[in-house]
Amino acid sequence: MKYVLVSNWKANFTLDEACKWFELVSNFNNPGLRIIASVPYPYIQFLAQNYRNIDVFSQNVSHVLGGAYTGEVTISMLKSVGFKGSIIGHSERRHIFNESDDVINKKVLILENNSSEIILCIGETLIERNEGRTKDVLYNQIVNCLRGFVNFNLLTVAYEPVWAIGTGVPIKIEDLVDAERFIRKIFKQEFNVDDIVLLYGGSVDKEFIKLIKNETTMNGALIGSASWDPQNFLKIIHNFV
Ligand code: 13P
Repeated sequence: MKYVLVSNWKANFTLDEACKWFELVSNFNNPGLRIIASVPYPYIQFLAQNYRNIDVFSQNVSHVLGGAYTGEVTISMLKSVGFKGSIIGHSERRHIFNESDDVINKKVLILENNSSEIILCIGETLIERNEGRTKDVLYNQIVNCLRGFVNFNLLTVAYEPVWAIGTGVPIKIEDLVDAERFIRKIFKQEFNVDDIVLLYGGSVDKEFIKLIKNETTMNGALIGSASWDPQNFLKIIHNFV
């Protein structure tokens, strides 16, 4: 079983803060737990070159391969500075920057074609949940975002209910058990994949990580705000190993 904890920095940290975080967190070294930091683009090269024990991911990649697209950061650029993979389809990209399943699918395939890893985020909004549409939404996101995708070794899925992100209130653990069972069933049924690496994200803290560990068979978590203080992230790591 693979165990993974991902810190998603979002649009936070100066270079100085980034180095301090890596100094502290890279002291943790346990081959049984993979630590990933999804960092802002400008820090990828320096962090990937200077620290061991933590895999450096981006938080996005362009859906174009290059050319006259002012401001875009492409897969070739990211590979040339040593990134390992990217978060794709985070709810903040979907809802604030209007990324559709089609655009997310393009990005997933670009990463796959470049042998780079993908952390694909899926999750329902509160309205969708209250209308009883959670399972339909998850199913559609999975099949639409993974159309044409075949190399499941490169894929990690992060189930992040939108209403649980940044609210301080994670999902109820029994609802997570139910969602996990459903998502694993879709991967078996649609792609014949038995062992998809599956993370939970949404207000994970040092207490909720114990529930994930003890009451689910999830592979780990994708963590925002509780991971930004490196000492706090280390507590989460220690409660998960
Ligand atoms: P929080 O942990 O701050 O709720 O953020 C979750 C998230 O969006 C991780 O990608």
